[in-house]
Amino acid sequence: MALYSEVVMDHFTHPRNVGVIENADGVGQVGNAKCGDIMKIYLKIDDDIITDVKFETFGCGSAIASSSMATEMIKGKPISEAMQLTNKAVAEALDGLPAHKLHCSVLAEEAIKSALKDYYDRNGIEYDHKLFPDCESCGHCHD
Ligand code: FES
Repeated sequence: MALYSEVVMDHFTHPRNVGVIENADGVGQVGNAKCGDIMKIYLKIDDDIITDVKFETFGCGSAIASSSMATEMIKGKPISEAMQLTNKAVAEALDGLPAHKLHCSVLAEEAIKSALKDYYDRNGIEYDHKLFPDCESCGHCHD
């Protein structure tokens, strides 16, 4: 069996939503300290709906495929749904990732959460800090 699914290869070779959103409503950047990969997510939000999303990923193929898939999964969706997106769902949508590459999909989940947190912070929107448990302690974000 090939190491990477066809879906992973497709999203790696033709990533969706690559780029930058000028005047984004929320920006999140996370890095993996071990591999050094960095992922940045830009969100445009209107009336609680994610109307546009773009990413820049400096990282491995799985990280690029995960960013591409994750952005497709939250585009056009309400914030509440994007908040539920797990790295597991991203990996499943990619038809699986090799075990040692699962952390790459974690980066996508974290980057989206970080961008949503940024949106909340910028707009003074109250939120339950427990929704972002890692943010208190991890120090990954470069905000
Ligand atoms: Fe670092 Fe994939 S190896 S995110």
